[in-house]
Amino acid sequence: MHNVAITGTGVFTPSEVITNDELVAAFNSYADLWNAENAAAIDAGTVQAKTHSSSEFIVAASGIERRYVLDKEGVLDPARMFPRLATRSDDQPGYMAEIGVDAAQKALSAAGVDAADVDLVICAASNMERAYPAIAVEIQQLLSAGGFAFDMNVACSSATFGIQTAADMIRSGSIRRALVINPEICSAHLEWRDRDCHFIFGDVATATLLERDEDLDKPHFKVLSTRCATQFSNNIRNNNGYLRRTQDHMEDRRDMQFMQNGRKVFKEVLPLVSQHIADHMEHENIAATDLHRLWLHQANKTMNDYIGKKVLGRTPEPGEQPNILQDYANTSSAGSIIAFSKHSNDMKPGDKGLICSFGAGYSVGSVIVERA
Ligand code: COA
Repeated sequence: MHNVAITGTGVFTPSEVITNDELVAAFNSYADLWNAENAAAIDAGTVQAKTHSSSEFIVAASGIERRYVLDKEGVLDPARMFPRLATRSDDQPGYMAEIGVDAAQKALSAAGVDAADVDLVICAASNMERAYPAIAVEIQQLLSAGGFAFDMNVACSSATFGIQTAADMIRSGSIRRALVINPEICSAHLEWRDRDCHFIFGDVATATLLERDEDLDKPHFKVLSTRCATQFSNNIRNNNGYLRRTQDHMEDRRDMQFMQNGRKVFKEVLPLVSQHIADHMEHENIAATDLHRLWLHQANKTMNDYIGKKVLGRTPEPGEQPNILQDYANTSSAGSIIAFSKHSNDMKPGDKGLICSFGAGYSVGSVIVERA
């Protein structure tokens, strides 16, 4: 069995930002337009008028202040409310491959590794731009990486599940190096016209480079242990799939985009995640006092505050459980990796931390690391 290390991470951040105020102004214009178009039915009482959204609600309910997106104009157009991402021809790089490559190159350069020395590329994300060929194989080619590549989807837990998959192959000796890449174009599966969730997501791509830990003479994090778990739930669901499309071709169906029962998710996922982390730490003989940092999935600030307190047995000190969701919103599987990438360089040799992502499935994955 070989030891495994994380030697580099990379984050691609889109250049366009939408603040809560901009988002709410667009949503409220859309709601006004819709109400005017449906005035007769609203007056007759057969449909309900749409109510306005508010920035104050968004910050109070989620902690989100803004989000990055690939296309701002399409999302904020009240007559559209959806990003404009032009279809790319088969000989152009896909969107996910393009942003995934950017993040991967940053991770490779942080680690001083040549793409040709990578044996495995995993594209792990909540949605894939196409069914096949795998996005990961396209990224492998664009990077000139070696070995093999495949896609995997475990929704918001895709990054940690990808890390465990790659780490297991490095441990067993079948590969030496792997890139786990999370290109999350959440703006394309969010229903921007739904007041209950229109503020939730943003776009980003992250990459994590894992290597066999054999006399590494560069900064790295030892991967001490990984653990994944799943339990079926319909409370976060997106029915968009090739069978559904065949049957209901042109319908504008709400269930073909991200749907959630946010309150239930909140209530059910908190105990699941807290217990998962407690079991993982107990199994590895790691006490709360041994943990210097928590890099949690970035969906909701109250949720993270609760989990941080439960895991550490006290309110986390500033910096112990860094949040990035105020700037990025929920970026699905990429969130905990953005937090890890941006808030880990200051850790000292011997300091331990825990990366944890959770979401649809339900699914939860945790990775315990130690600064070398
Ligand atoms: N603007 C203003 N008010 C809004 C609003 C908006 N955009 N959206 C909802 N409201 C109102 C509701 O109408 C409701 O009003 P009422 O009490 O008068 O009926 C009130 O705010 C509470 O709505 P609710 O949907 O229950 O909000 P919440 O406090 O549960 O927060 C979430 C919603 C989604 C932020 C929260 O449930 C959450 O984060 N859940 C977990 C999500 C998660 O982790 N998902 C994983 C995805 S990967």
